[in-house]
Amino acid sequence: MIELTIDNKPIEIAEGRTLLEACRENGIHVPTLCYHPALKPYGACRLCVVELVFKDAEACLVPACTYPCKDGLAVRTNSKAVKKNRRLTLELLLASAYETPEIFTLAEELGVEEIRFKLHQADSCILCGLCVRACSEIVGKEAISITGRGMSKEVSPPFKVASSTCIGCGTCVLICPTGIINLEDVYSRRIEHVFSSDDEPILCKLCGESSAGPYAIQPPEPPLEILSEDTLKNSDELYRR
Ligand code: SF4
Ligand code: FES
Repeated sequence: MIELTIDNKPIEIAEGRTLLEACRENGIHVPTLCYHPALKPYGACRLCVVELVFKDAEACLVPACTYPCKDGLAVRTNSKAVKKNRRLTLELLLASAYETPEIFTLAEELGVEEIRFKLHQADSCILCGLCVRACSEIVGKEAISITGRGMSKEVSPPFKVASSTCIGCGTCVLICPTGIINLEDVYSRRIEHVFSSDDEPILCKLCGESSAGPYAIQPPEPPLEILSEDTLKNSDELYRR
């Protein structure tokens, strides 16, 4: 077991857990955006920063969702530096997606009242990577990825060509916090606009709804509940962040 203190509270936790898991298991709230319990942590949004305090070195900020618990660590989750950093991150996120309810709620929680940056869009991609990881880790496909560098980073299918591996399951739509990925019913067919394959949509034998391609009716591409049995992940968790 590992022993550490979080907000002066002594905590014991099994090896291999992250600081975020230690906080959550001990009722300490840390805001998150790109974290999902069913996915590997990615450390993209930086909202979950906490401060590590040392006797003989300067304190530093680390993302709680990716930082492993270590013996003797002293962690602060609500210090002045932590709050200042989270507010700045939120301002940047708001500039990219200022009408996204989840981000708006986080801004209220953290007391962000003004945005000092130029507003880009009400709901653009914030590059949290949830859709990409869900496609790969939950659905078992790699229909989309984060491409480009710097300002031109974006989520897209390989070579920006409609992906033939997309099964139109909609997991990316479900998990995206900004709602930038949409499924639309067009002539009773469900078309996934951003990442869809060119395959003719057909009825899914499992749910009866139109889906996005011949691959959708073949195992192992069942809905999330069935996927959760395969992956031993709790299906409730697939819907929850
Ligand atoms: S499309 Fe949505 S889920 Fe995917 S990276 Fe952008 S904001 Fe995140
Ligand atoms: S939740 Fe930890 S970096 Fe996003």
